[in-house]
Amino acid sequence: MIRLSTGIHDFDKLIEGGIPQGFFVALTGEPGTGKTIFSLSFIHEGLVHGEPAIYVTTEESRDSIIRQAKMFNWDLEEYIEKKLIIIDALMKEREDEWSLTELEPEALVQKVIEAKQKLGSGWARLVIDSVSALFLDKPAMARKISYYLKRVLNKWRFTILVTSQYAITTSQAFGFGVEHVADGIIRFRRVIRDGMLHRYVIIEKMRQTNHDKYVWEIDIVPGKGIVLLGRLNERREDYALPKKVMDKIKEANKDESDIQ
Ligand SMILES: Nc1ncnc2c1ncn2[C@@H]1O[C@H](COP(=O)(O)OP(=O)(O)OP(=O)(O)O)[C@@H](O)[C@H]1O
Ligand SMILES: [Mg+2]
Repeated sequence: MIRLSTGIHDFDKLIEGGIPQGFFVALTGEPGTGKTIFSLSFIHEGLVHGEPAIYVTTEESRDSIIRQAKMFNWDLEEYIEKKLIIIDALMKEREDEWSLTELEPEALVQKVIEAKQKLGSGWARLVIDSVSALFLDKPAMARKISYYLKRVLNKWRFTILVTSQYAITTSQAFGFGVEHVADGIIRFRRVIRDGMLHRYVIIEKMRQTNHDKYVWEIDIVPGKGIVLLGRLNERREDYALPKKVMDKIKEANKDESDIQ
């Protein structure tokens, strides 16, 4: 089995060397936890080894993505159009060949396939950041849309990362659809502890892989990207949500299932 480095070598070790080629992996987590930076690292790592890539951005502009990558010394500009296509799905006025004016799954898939045809028939890395944008107004469709993406894109020799938001109140609606369909789930978390923001990552699922099962604290370091600080073998309270918050979520979910 061919495994693709994420560009974060300590992280690769947790998944037997990397993400299996052809996999569809979900990166889920709250805002600001590192999903986009992880995705950029994955794309950049492929590019420096000659692997083409497509990056679909729905929440930030193409320029913002390029600028963000630069802060970690990942120069994406030099690959654009040759090996890298960034599909801007922000649906702004400015239109070019690689902009989307509507964010519908079919239109997105069509654009991705066009980009793939331009990049050649070999394997390519694909990021959809974020896939949640496709079902923001119809969370019940999350699973169906995720399945559609996986099924159609599967024929095009992609290894795929999709990011998905994990808002506390809507965790079930957004998390579930993608997570069931995905071959792997990398879960990012954040917690304020001792007056400071801490970020964590755990591999919740990686098919065909004897993956690590611990929570790791991570940091985002200028010039480097995501860095693993250490394994958490402490109490769950160190990264879990406070009980009061958990109780509220349970209560909200109960109300929701009452309605359905
Ligand atoms: N140059 C930098 N140096 C250090 N940290 C940075 C730098 N740029 C961004 N960060 C950190 O990375 C965070 C953003 O991470 P990222 O964009 O990957 O989050 P995300 O999980 O994709 O969030 P969202 O769901 O909102 O898109 C910022 O909030 C900041 O803490
Ligand atoms: Mg992001």
